Amino acid sequence: MTLARDPSGTLCLGGVRLEALASEAGTPVYAYDLDAMAAEARALREAFDGAPHLVAYALKANTAGGVVRALAGEGCGADVVSGAELLVALACGIAPERIVYSGVAKTERELDRAIACGASGIGAVQLESVEEIARVEARARAAGRDVRVSVRINPSIELEGATHAHIATGHDRAKFGVPRPDVAHAVRLVEASSRLELVGMAMHVGSQFTDTAPYVQAVRVLFGLVRSLREAGHGRALAFVDTGGGFGVDYTGAAVPIARPADFVRAARAEQSRHGLDDLALYVEPGRSMVAAHGVLVARVIQAKVAATARWLMIDAGMNDLVRPALYQARHRIVPVEHELVAAHAIRWRVVGPVCESSDDFGEHSLPREPPRAVAILDAGAYGYTMASQYNGRQLPVEAFLRGGQIVGRTERTTVEQWAAARARAGA
Ligand code: LLP
Repeated sequence: MTLARDPSGTLCLGGVRLEALASEAGTPVYAYDLDAMAAEARALREAFDGAPHLVAYALKANTAGGVVRALAGEGCGADVVSGAELLVALACGIAPERIVYSGVAKTERELDRAIACGASGIGAVQLESVEEIARVEARARAAGRDVRVSVRINPSIELEGATHAHIATGHDRAKFGVPRPDVAHAVRLVEASSRLELVGMAMHVGSQFTDTAPYVQAVRVLFGLVRSLREAGHGRALAFVDTGGGFGVDYTGAAVPIARPADFVRAARAEQSRHGLDDLALYVEPGRSMVAAHGVLVARVIQAKVAATARWLMIDAGMNDLVRPALYQARHRIVPVEHELVAAHAIRWRVVGPVCESSDDFGEHSLPREPPRAVAILDAGAYGYTMASQYNGRQLPVEAFLRGGQIVGRTERTTVEQWAAARARAGA
């Protein structure tokens, strides 16, 4: 973590004073430490010990060009889930063959884009259902091109309590992936096609794993399947196995360490060898673990409200800027920006945003009795801006990109006048 306080007590991210940033960029503002994100990518890549691999960064966590370029600069590829994300990855200089495309319902237009780019299309279109196979094949024929595909399996396992129900994707009722009983059929269909080339077998079972054990349990299902397919003479063109993302981050700041992304990779590699699959490259699709801890959301305190029943601290960031607490009951630490919290002056505040929803609530936090001018919501680099909305006529937050102790880029906020005029024009 590259958050630190300077001698005056002001919170800095990547060496940049967040109070100065808030004044310069306005709030709410997301700030990203690009050096720390790049270091995260390097640390993860080292865990492969030079074995063939691809860290396909899951753009859905943070699509900002500054972030994607920083990770691409460390040799990351991309996992995209829409034609739009594909365009961002390409525009940030990621080679088409280093991009995999997941998603349960890709449109024809999106498939065409994936098939058309570069000399031979993207690295792999990840097939998530038997039904999708004929659709991809039809687009391949229409384009007159061969298409590399991978079958994303649904390992059909319940990883009880390992992750939040909304982000568990590897069980029987999830819409994701080819159900385990249908995998052999899917592989046969792909191999019967003259236009599709089966280059990978993939899975992604959920997000925010803090322990490698449930991940390994799922990895064994995938690798076991790949081994038996090969024993039955299938998968001759396989080039990779992809165990997905899901490496967790520590949102609590607790002293007890959680598994690091590199631990998941080492555990998966050990299973890969055990299953005799060392000839295949190992792909992973981490999103959150690359960026979450290296981004903060800085907000100004608008006012306090004190009643007999509660004390609220009302800030200018809401659930429209960071929806995770409202959507998943997620808890992000909140700290004062200008001065370190002094225990003797701390009280419990319920930190809330301005949005007209009871769920616009960031939880109870220890903060100074005298409301600070600004607060930082920590670990907001993943699934923050990408899930933001304009609900209640609130403008999207801006983003600032930090490198070498400097602000190296930032985005501009739309004005409320622009937004209001556009909404007023709708339907006119
Ligand atoms: N690959 C696939 C196919 C995915 O569906 C996902 C995430 C990832 C990779 C990256 O997973 P990660 O390494 O970030 O855990 N909005 C939620 C998380 C949703 C994750 C959806 N899929 C949150 O804020 O917690």
